Amino acid sequence: MNATWTPRIFTAAGLMLAVVFAAPAVVAAQAPATQGPVTFAKDVAPILQRNCQVCHRPGSTAPMSLLKYEEVRPWARAIKQRTSLREMPPWYIDRNVGIHQFKNDRSLSDEEIATIAKWADAGAPLGNPADLPPPRQFEDVDKWHIGAPDLIVTMPKDQIVPPEGPDKWLDVLVDPGLTEDRYLKAVETKPSKGFKVIHHSVQTMTEPDGSIDDSDNPRGKFLNEYALGKNGDVFPEGAGRLIKAGTKFNFNLHLHSIGEETRANVELGLKFYPKGYVPRYVENSEGVGRNQDLDIPANTDNVRSDGYFTLTRPARVLSFQPHMHNRGKAMCVEAIYPPAGSPATGNTQQQNRVETLSCVDRYQFAWHVVYLYDDDAQPLLPAGTVLHVIGWHNNTAANKFNPDPDNLITYGQRTIDDMSFAWMSWYYLSDQEYKEQVEARQAKIKSTGN
Ligand code: HEC
Repeated sequence: MNATWTPRIFTAAGLMLAVVFAAPAVVAAQAPATQGPVTFAKDVAPILQRNCQVCHRPGSTAPMSLLKYEEVRPWARAIKQRTSLREMPPWYIDRNVGIHQFKNDRSLSDEEIATIAKWADAGAPLGNPADLPPPRQFEDVDKWHIGAPDLIVTMPKDQIVPPEGPDKWLDVLVDPGLTEDRYLKAVETKPSKGFKVIHHSVQTMTEPDGSIDDSDNPRGKFLNEYALGKNGDVFPEGAGRLIKAGTKFNFNLHLHSIGEETRANVELGLKFYPKGYVPRYVENSEGVGRNQDLDIPANTDNVRSDGYFTLTRPARVLSFQPHMHNRGKAMCVEAIYPPAGSPATGNTQQQNRVETLSCVDRYQFAWHVVYLYDDDAQPLLPAGTVLHVIGWHNNTAANKFNPDPDNLITYGQRTIDDMSFAWMSWYYLSDQEYKEQVEARQAKIKSTGN
């Protein structure tokens, strides 16, 4: 296998007639054109405030604080390096292909990365303290952003994280005691204890009879995720997610030792629509393109696998989250549209149009990022569209997460096995709703000229 990771091969498809997508956004205002030398006070501090400090501050998850100049100065080289490699902030979307607009985008622009590099290379000067922006205010970690929940579910036992040790990933199944079907209006997860040691907590749902709808995934349907800086999901009025009576919640945690023994627990807050209310749109989350035939030879890079999922009804896609294990390297998802002509028009000559939705060009096992499409960029896909998920694995020693490059790796639940699929969520639409939403999108593109 000599396929190399070249995401740009997909751009040709992406360029073809992109009717249902907003055209690439006008590039948002970039860092101001710098006059004179680049300084911390004027140029770098605002970037760190916006994109780094939510994690890099005392009491948060990152190893060092980046609030004050004196704290940042010793890290100037490392900051330049991690930002130029786009390892920090954690956001791994390939910027050269697919959709560009995300609700939770925390990535740096090329200009911001260049500004940081220039500043580090110039000896990381403070500049004029009068140029410093006022300190960023952070919210209390105890706050519910969705308002007071109707139901709060926690893990029955705290997890004890030892002072030292390798990172731990674990699953805890909790029965919230739900006795009737309810539609969810909003959901939020937050740590109630040990905020510093909790890198992520992803909640999924079992079926009411205790079975897992996805026979090949131990965790069931995606419900909600906690990651720093995330404020919970509030569904738009008229949209919701069904939670059936008897559903159990699985908490999947990534815990990280911090030098002192720490108790950790998580609260899942749920707000429901009134009893009996059925929202028009019901959000669905699926593991898309699950490939159970993974065969990743020892000491081999760029091992490609493909998985497919057919949308039987029109859909509006809301999010993308690649799922792979230690050898995961990159992933793309593309939409293969049904042939425009056939069979309704009898024209069978039409090619299927293919469009890349998103690629992650350096999958990082340690970071679970859910990429949430902006409202105006959520793909509107007709019935019959095939979602094609392409994964690449790196089973060589060059992959720092690889515990053993000398083994053949196949599909499996254990971290040392591997997987390749994407969690994606969408609303199904009726044919009429689909038509209306495509028209509304086109009208908007026309009126804003982009
Ligand atoms: C979502 C939380 C988060 C955000 C946002 C974030 N970081 Fe980090 N950062 C971490 C964590 C956790 C680590 C340690 C684990 C790792 O390296 O992945 C880290 C590690 C680092 C390191 C390496 C530290 C070392 O010990 O070598 C640097 C440098 C860094 N971050 C800089 C930045 C900069 C600059 C930004 C913003 C442009 C940023 N980070 C944004 C969480 C974050």
